[in-house]
This record gives sequence, structure tokens and C-alpha cells, in this order.
Amino acid sequence: MNTFANRVLIVGGGGHSKVIIEVFRAMGCEPAGILDPHTSDRDILGVAVFGGDDLMERLFEMGYRRAHVAIGQNSLRRRLGTQLKNLGFELVNAIHPSAVISPSAELGEGISVMPNAVIHTKARVSALAIVNTGAIIEHDCFIGVATHVAPRSVMGGNVVIEDEVLFGIGAVARPLSRIGARATIGAGAVVIGTIEPDLVATGVPARPGSP
Ligand SMILES: CC(C)(COP(=O)(O)OP(=O)(O)OC[C@H]1O[C@@H](n2cnc3c(N)ncnc32)[C@H](O)[C@@H]1OP(=O)(O)O)[C@@H](O)C(=O)NCCC(=O)NCCS
Repeated sequence: MNTFANRVLIVGGGGHSKVIIEVFRAMGCEPAGILDPHTSDRDILGVAVFGGDDLMERLFEMGYRRAHVAIGQNSLRRRLGTQLKNLGFELVNAIHPSAVISPSAELGEGISVMPNAVIHTKARVSALAIVNTGAIIEHDCFIGVATHVAPRSVMGGNVVIEDEVLFGIGAVARPLSRIGARATIGAGAVVIGTIEPDLVATGVPARPGSP
């Protein structure tokens, strides 16, 4: 019998990882261990640090099959998630029990949904996205791969947010808005139309350019 198959490895040992550990605990799942090349801590919130990312392959050979990438930086979260998938890992979701998720919403793999977040009717959240504390994703929205919807941000119906976007704390998107890949929407901004890829947009209404 593979005793490690159901245990979840956490990749990343920073601030976001601490929150993820507590989300897994709230789900009744105690994480197995953490991979992070940059920490000298022996444990994080009582979860052992096994070592760096180079251990992924060895841990798979030992029998570990489930992992969650707990890293806030979008491109790195995506890269490590892809690496884990290529090794054969299943990317598991971390969904706090207080989150409200419509039965008609579609969720990708390896996503995290924090306390009191709402993912409404027919919304789609792609793989490796973060839906942070108290965020509201209204009906029919689309959230791209490895995008981060920050705490208390709100998007009206039919908003499209492409891959690896940071939609900042408390930001708002008017219904039908569109935000291009890798854009950053500043904290508190209000998007009322289209923001092109790779831009940083701030203010009310949100305008791209130097903040
Ligand atoms: C927009 C943002 C990316 C800019 O970061 P930055 O390049 O480091 O900008 P700075 O803090 O150096 O500020 C530069 C200028 O922009 C202004 N500014 C910064 N963020 C702003 C915002 N959200 N709205 C309006 N103006 C902003 C600053 O006041 C400053 O103005 P000044 O030049 O007139 O003094 C950042 O401030 C932001 O809002 N990030 C979102 C973070 C977030 O929500 N993370 C989620 C974590 S869970």
C-alpha cells in the first residue's frame, strides 16, 4: 500500500503558504510537508520543511502524488505547477469551508479559494488561480490560469480576466470588463472597460501607465 498517496505536499514556504496550511486544516487535511529552497525554518506552523524544489521527483518516487503550489507570484506558481504536473502529481485545490461556490461554477486544478470568497453562477476559475479572502466573482466571469484575485476585490457579471493577472486588493471590475494577460490592477482601482496585457492600471476609473 502507498502510504503517501493521499498526503498533500505544499510547494512554497512564504506568507501565502501559511494561509494555505490553515485552509487545508480547515478542510480536515493535515499537509505532509513543505518544499522551499529559500527558508531555513525546520517547520512552518508545525508542518515540516522537507527541503527545496529539487526534491519533487524523489518524493514522487517515494509515493507522494498530491501537491499544492502555495506561492503568491503568478508566473512562478504556474511554472512550478507545470513542473509538478509533468512529474505526474495531481494538483489539489485548497478551498476554505466558508467560501461560497455555485454548483454551476467550474474550477480548475490547483486553485485556492480563501475564507468568505464567493464564486457565483457559471463562473469559471482556471488552474492555479488564487481567489483571495472575501473576493466576489459574479456570474459568468472567467478567471485565467495562475491569476490572483486579491482580497475583497469584486467583479461584476461576465468579466474576463486572462492568465497571470494580479487583480489588486479591493479592486472592482464593471460587468463585461476585460483584463489582458499579466496585467496588474492596482489596489482599489475600478476597471470600466478593457485593460491590455502586461499593463499596470490604477485609479478610478483605472488607467494604464505609471501609477
Ligand atoms: C499599483 C502598484 C502595483 C504600484 O506599485 P509600485 O510600482 O511599487 O508603486 P509605488 O508604491 O512606488 O507608488 C508609485 C506611485 O503610484 C501611486 N500608487 C501606488 N499604488 C496605487 C494605487 N493602487 N492606486 C493609486 N495610486 C497608486 C503612489 O501613490 C505613488 O504615487 P506618487 O509617485 O505620486 O507618489 C501597487 O501599489 C498595487 O496597488 N499593488 C497591488 C497589490 C495587491 O493588491 N496585492 C495583493 C496581495 S494579497
